[in-house]
Amino acid sequence: MEREKALLLVKEQLTEQRYQHTLGVMETAIKLAQRYGADEKKAELAAIFHDYAKFRPKEEMKHIIEEQGFPKDLLEYNAELWHAPVGAFLVETEAGITDKEILNAIKYHTSGRPGMTLLEKIIYLADYIEPGRHFPGVDEVRELAKQSLDAALIKSIQNTIIFLLKKNQTVYPDTLHTYNYLVKNRRID
Ligand SMILES: [Fe+2]
Ligand SMILES: [Fe+2]
Repeated sequence: MEREKALLLVKEQLTEQRYQHTLGVMETAIKLAQRYGADEKKAELAAIFHDYAKFRPKEEMKHIIEEQGFPKDLLEYNAELWHAPVGAFLVETEAGITDKEILNAIKYHTSGRPGMTLLEKIIYLADYIEPGRHFPGVDEVRELAKQSLDAALIKSIQNTIIFLLKKNQTVYPDTLHTYNYLVKNRRID
């Protein structure tokens, strides 16, 4: 699918602010794909569609998670996680994107997963460091991303976990599993 068509489909689903975020993720994902040798076109499409389901009603997302047999434990954790797997499902069924690599990059962009592919890592990180993001620690991750994808990912997940702990919030187990996996298997780029 061409960029313009994908952007039109996504624009209908998002607020203006979230659409601007999406453009930032797209631009960042393409740069990371160039830097780390991933498919730029796939990075572009995965980035454009990554937040497709962000504003779907909770009830609809819950229904899709149950009906599609997505991990049930998702429902016991922060609802912010839900739009990722639900988004992958809707991008396939509503927008007709069938490429599994793209769909998985959307599916795992909030939790990550052990054994993430290069494209999955790029979308996860682009979502975290796109130019519209302003929070403590983001510049450090931006700098790391120029040197090592895994080092940047590890730092971003550390920041996320610490943020949740400080707010007395739960941490989704797959986020911890992803962190452990990356620390044990990190690559030096
Ligand atoms: Fe998201
Ligand atoms: Fe996002």
